[in-house]
Amino acid sequence: GPARDQAMARIKHLLRERDAVLVAHYYVDEALQRIAEETGGTVSDSLDMARFGHEHPASTIVVAGVRFMGETAKILNPEKRVLIPSLEAECSLDLECPADDFIPFCDAHPERTVVVYSNTSAAVKARADYVVTSSIAVKLVAHLHRQGKKIIWAPDKHLGAYVQAQTGADMLMWNGSCVVHDEFRAQALEQLKARHPEAAVLVHPESPASVIALADAVGSTTQLIDAARTLPNPAFIVATDNRIFHKMRQAAPGKTLIEAPTGGHGATCRSCAHCPWMAMNSLRALLKTLETGEGEIHVEEKTRVKAQQATQRMLDFAA
Ligand code: 13P
Ligand code: SF4
Repeated sequence: GPARDQAMARIKHLLRERDAVLVAHYYVDEALQRIAEETGGTVSDSLDMARFGHEHPASTIVVAGVRFMGETAKILNPEKRVLIPSLEAECSLDLECPADDFIPFCDAHPERTVVVYSNTSAAVKARADYVVTSSIAVKLVAHLHRQGKKIIWAPDKHLGAYVQAQTGADMLMWNGSCVVHDEFRAQALEQLKARHPEAAVLVHPESPASVIALADAVGSTTQLIDAARTLPNPAFIVATDNRIFHKMRQAAPGKTLIEAPTGGHGATCRSCAHCPWMAMNSLRALLKTLETGEGEIHVEEKTRVKAQQATQRMLDFAA
């Protein structure tokens, strides 16, 4: 409606006025995705968000996503101001891997190379040798495995199990999971697949192994959108946050997009195919951040420098 249009116009104006660029994840409100694209920012997966912010000349980076994405931007760009619409936008993987538990765990296995998923705090990244995102986790771990390295993997047990199965690497696993992807259910997916034999199944690797086993394509959000663009199927069953449908519809116009089934509808489903923390990225919250400067990310310098090394190793490897 008109209130939304007005907020969008005001946000675009403030982005220019504040020398700020908006970097958005596919899981946020489509209005924010549109603003990012219409103002020279980007919508992408975690790896490309990090890259884009790092290479962009704006003095302020506004990250429409969750806290770890804002922290990654700050880790790579200490001289820039980094804002996120809500500092309460967490991630269950990050919450389930507190540095106070993770650091002694690593210390107990000094012979292992520490690889952490980007969905972690700056303090956890600071203890890591490598940060990875879902888009390059298999490639990077395969590379380390070829060098004979044994690995500590944290925090996502499902992504870890997938990487382990793909690479055969020796991986000591943390026991975290994503509240959204952990809810996808293989049995219900199998039934849905039987009703739509023409559909290809696209799965994010934060999903359980039984769900990944039914996939025609497994990958990061960008990789799943690419799969929808390139696979010939007329329909796709998609196991990831359903806000991805905005971009996927553009990438695969005319194709049918179907949500993969989750564990329970209603009471038992904590977050049915949409991340409650990504949902905090409203137009109103973004506007407030730009108006007030609230939501600034700070990372303690000693932590930042160490986290930067592990993050930079990922960017160098991915390059
Ligand atoms: P990617 O966009 O890197 O696939 O990450 C998914 C995710 O869980 C972000 O919260
Ligand atoms: Fe974290 Fe899952 Fe939300 Fe992504 S979708 S931010 S992995 S809780």
